[in-house]
Amino acid sequence: MYFEDNNIVDESRQGEVLIKETKNRTAKKLYLESYGCAMNFSDSEIIASIMAKSGFQTTNTTDDADVIFLNTCAIRENAELRIWQRLRTFRTQKKQKPDLIIGVLGCMAERLKTQLLEKEKLVDIVVGPDSYRDLPNLIATAETGQKAINVLLSREETYAEISPVRLGGNGIVGFISIMRGCDNMCSFCVVPFTRGRERSRDPESIVAEACELFENGYKEITLLGQNVDSYLWFGGGPKKDLPEEITNKALAHQLPDEEQKKYTTFADLLELLARIHPDLRIRFSTSNPRDMTDAVLHVMAKHENICDYVHLPVQSGNSRILEKMNRGYTREQYMHHIESIRKIIPGCSISTDIISGFCSETEEEHQETLSMMEWVGYDYAYMFKYSERPATLAARQYKDDIPEEVKARRLQEIIDLQIKLSHQSNLKDLQKVHRVLAENVSKRSERHLSGRNSQNKVVIFPRNNYKPGDYVNVLVTDCTSATLIGNVVD
Ligand code: 5AD
Ligand code: SF4
Repeated sequence: MYFEDNNIVDESRQGEVLIKETKNRTAKKLYLESYGCAMNFSDSEIIASIMAKSGFQTTNTTDDADVIFLNTCAIRENAELRIWQRLRTFRTQKKQKPDLIIGVLGCMAERLKTQLLEKEKLVDIVVGPDSYRDLPNLIATAETGQKAINVLLSREETYAEISPVRLGGNGIVGFISIMRGCDNMCSFCVVPFTRGRERSRDPESIVAEACELFENGYKEITLLGQNVDSYLWFGGGPKKDLPEEITNKALAHQLPDEEQKKYTTFADLLELLARIHPDLRIRFSTSNPRDMTDAVLHVMAKHENICDYVHLPVQSGNSRILEKMNRGYTREQYMHHIESIRKIIPGCSISTDIISGFCSETEEEHQETLSMMEWVGYDYAYMFKYSERPATLAARQYKDDIPEEVKARRLQEIIDLQIKLSHQSNLKDLQKVHRVLAENVSKRSERHLSGRNSQNKVVIFPRNNYKPGDYVNVLVTDCTSATLIGNVVD
């Protein structure tokens, strides 16, 4: 469980150096470190692809790098502090090798461009998430000794036809970005400012990328978007500019079939991907209670290879706080979604994101978050203290008035409860057979493999003659609050 970052932010991967070995010894070398969510890691694969086309190969050490890139995250203050610290460690390298180019990419770029270029003088390039195609030009400018910057946010860019260089990873599980940006304007969230307007990617290019991954041995894809339920393809461009009879779900349902075929919803996209091959599993993140429909749940129920797992962030269990957060649903509406999931996909696991100590949250309102957690019985949760982000609606309109120690205490209560709920959830899996996709040799023992079941739970089992990429039936006999442990059954 990652307590301090989000699901989409895998704490164990922060600062990971992404490389793909190549043989070309004369090529210039790029050192690329990634932070933040899976979306950002997926962007790093696009960055590597664009850089490879301009003759760069990746390296895993800063010592022989010609270019150092940090692909950054801005979601909470901690994420940014970590980057500032990291930048300072590059000072000596820059002194010894003045030609070294240092770039700050991703979510911190737009917000902190001036500070990055003026205060932290060692930064040569600042590039926002929609401007990666411009990297070769920016590098050329930086090579002449000038600072180079492009933080323009685009209305169209989805990098649809850029084939990502698959970095890190195990060759079994891959990520595909299906949309970019976010229009939701939750009052606490910086993403709409750092990543711009929501736009969906052409479904044909998504299906082509999934097929290519499957042909290369991948067995699972996770579709990524800030709000996948809002995915809508009608020829491209910002979602807010699409006709209302299509974007408004109630109106869209009334259109004749012929008209409905002209656009692609998230449910349609899932259906297309599920049909690629029964051995290609599909997951997605993140769902949003504001936009989730039963149509998506029915497609999930219909296809065995769409995993029984929904990540549905609640943020708070209290309707007044939800309104202040501008989440677009009440406690009751959220509960209604949970009931639909339980009814349509029995056995589906559900995880969530929770923020403790949002502006003006009372003790009773915090208790409602705890009671919501108990009521849902979350299998998993990503839990955070509220961190005020400049320029957000909350920063402009509300006081960050919950003392640090109260936020911390409430967060601890949330974490303690989730540990209990996760353990209870795992106990229910004992003595059942789970179909597990083997992903890696276990970190603790060479003789075990680790993989995940459809519900996204990590399962450890004896390696025998199995290898990563195999589907294996495992009878679960033991568990901790984080892992299921079992034996293979044929
Ligand atoms: N403070 C704390 N947590 C935040 N998140 C987003 N913005 C903030 C913030 N300002 C959390 C939310 C979101 C997850 C990705 O990160 O829970 O769902
Ligand atoms: Fe991902 Fe959001 Fe962090 Fe950007 S700010 S890297 S979108 S979690």
